[in-house]
Amino acid sequence: MPNALTITDQRNNKTYEAPIENGTIRAMDLRKIKTDPEDFGLMTYDPAFMNTASCKSSITFIDGDKGILRYRGYDIEALAEKCTYLQVAYLLLHGELPTPEQDQQWTYEITHHTMLHENIKNFVDGFRYDAHPMGILVSTLAALSTFYPEAKNVHDPEIRQRQIVRLIAKIATVAAYSYRHRRGLPYVYPDNDLSYTENFMNMLWKMPEPKYVASPVIARALDVLFILHADHEQNCSAATMRVVGSSQADPYLSMAAAASALSGPLHGGANEEVLRMLDEIGSVKNIPAYIKRVKAGELKLMGFGHRVYKNYDPRARIIKAVANEVFEVTGRNEKLDIAIELERIALQDDYFVQRKLYPNVDFYSGIIYQAMGFQPEMFTVLFAIPRAAGWLAQWSELVQDPEQKISRPRQVYTGISHRTLETADQKQTVHA
Ligand SMILES: CC(C)(COP(=O)(O)OP(=O)(O)OC[C@H]1O[C@@H](n2cnc3c(N)ncnc32)[C@H](O)[C@@H]1OP(=O)(O)O)[C@@H](O)C(=O)NCCC(=O)NCCS
Repeated sequence: MPNALTITDQRNNKTYEAPIENGTIRAMDLRKIKTDPEDFGLMTYDPAFMNTASCKSSITFIDGDKGILRYRGYDIEALAEKCTYLQVAYLLLHGELPTPEQDQQWTYEITHHTMLHENIKNFVDGFRYDAHPMGILVSTLAALSTFYPEAKNVHDPEIRQRQIVRLIAKIATVAAYSYRHRRGLPYVYPDNDLSYTENFMNMLWKMPEPKYVASPVIARALDVLFILHADHEQNCSAATMRVVGSSQADPYLSMAAAASALSGPLHGGANEEVLRMLDEIGSVKNIPAYIKRVKAGELKLMGFGHRVYKNYDPRARIIKAVANEVFEVTGRNEKLDIAIELERIALQDDYFVQRKLYPNVDFYSGIIYQAMGFQPEMFTVLFAIPRAAGWLAQWSELVQDPEQKISRPRQVYTGISHRTLETADQKQTVHA
């Protein structure tokens, strides 16, 4: 079977061949389709990148119809069951799970880069007491760029690796500072005796006790949530990381941009919106009326639907199981009952079935985070911490990809083609 697409241009009956590789044709092959030599050539028009592959990637695989998510070929279910977040971060970045020695070395390096420069404290202190923690995170990530000027050497593998370690290590500390700032609590320094998630919990919740002891169930639940959120191929924030990174901006600045993209309610901000929605619904008996409003197009069911998954999001299934473990420790949260009933009703309703709208990762994560003691404002920050690994893996792949250049989409210009600027004098003459 020949591996090419034959295109006939009905404007002039000319025929073209475009080779097919990996189920794609090269958009640039369309440029040779012209009606005359002056013609710019054909482009594709694809708002929101609904059907455009912007890169080749070997990091994450999603089959949205079957509900499959794999990092480097491993099923997300197996990784969530058997690995730690740091092992998964290593896998995303290096392509293989670490050997025991590599694991030890990697954990040591991350642990020993969790400290922030003291000036960052003053920087965070500058925010209003009620500043949104995502705003603090985004700004502090960008500010870190000024502390590590060598980071701009994005083509030096050693320098790149150092920034990767710093960012994965420090983002949890920045997140914890943003949390403590809102509560008017003193910042807590990292504790190198603790695991990544235990240390994060220590920086969040340590009070005057000499040594913070994390609940193993909560620490493991956070670790699993971090694994589930670590990467999701070319989503809005990963694409932003790549676009900004393609200009050779340093990874701190690129990651500040990626985190900004994550903050939107249609992306990482959705978990915060789910909680607001559950609050608004208030009780199981109000669900049918709420679903009616959703179906009337008045509002969206937050935490439902996905651009890629047209089946149950595999992460949502794992999170639902984690929720039960967390509630054994924290006590049951009535919002879980509303969520479970909402899911039950929605999954059998024609509106949702026909549109293939299933719960996504954000549907249950917010309920767990709230049970752990987080305010909704922190939820997207909790998403950003592990996504750092995915953003950096995507960025690293981009920087080393010889096919990549600075990102620069085309447009279809629909404005006025040309007009002459009148001076004030001319205008007066015309209007006189
Ligand atoms: C995730 C999301 C942005 C994907 O959007 P998309 O791929 O552009 O899908 P569309 O908006 O084209 O949706 C297709 C149809 O389903 C409907 N739909 C999509 N998500 C919906 C939701 N959460 N509630 C109700 N209806 C929804 C749309 O109104 C549209 O209906 P129509 O065909 O009658 O116009 C969208 O599903 C959404 O806004 N979900 C809520 C926010 C959320 O949970 N985001 C987290 C993603 S991990």
